[in-house]
Amino acid sequence: DQSRPPVMQRTLVIFKPDCVQRRLVGQILQRFEAKGLRIAALKMIQVGRELGEQHYAEHKERPFFPGLIGFITGGPVVVGVLAGPEAVSVVRGMMGKTSGIEAAPGTIRGDFSVSKQNNLIHGSDSPESAAREIALWFKAEDVLDYDLAGSGWVY
Ligand code: PPS
Repeated sequence: DQSRPPVMQRTLVIFKPDCVQRRLVGQILQRFEAKGLRIAALKMIQVGRELGEQHYAEHKERPFFPGLIGFITGGPVVVGVLAGPEAVSVVRGMMGKTSGIEAAPGTIRGDFSVSKQNNLIHGSDSPESAAREIALWFKAEDVLDYDLAGSGWVY
């Protein structure tokens, strides 16, 4: 609906093991900051099997599921919460299509990936998914609300 005013949202992003391994975390995070999104939470963790399976629970029956769990648990990830106007769809648009082969140039996957599994980044696909995923990865008190504008921190 183009007519409704933008809604402030939070969304979960995971910089996947291939992103860490390829040293692209900073460059991709930079795109989100430059776009105008705010970092509400950020941490590096080694994902365990249980967390990986819970995160991807909706794909449990898919043939690629075991490989996907092996991949997401295969090395450390950086996981965060980004906040801003329509953050869920803004981040999804910046990521591009799931497959790096199909993703348009200018998108993160379009610019940096040629794989459907090693596609660098995960972003929540709906506000409902975002709420579920943020609660899975972060304690409520570790997701911060703060104002970046006019705070007087720098000057
Ligand atoms: S869906 O339900 O078909 O739309 O799924 P999709 O959004 O395309 O993909 C869901 C996540 O599964 C990963 N994926 C795969 N991994 C390995 N091999 C294959 N073939 C494959 N297909 C999909 C894909 O990277 C998605 O991960 P996330 O982290 O959600 O982006």
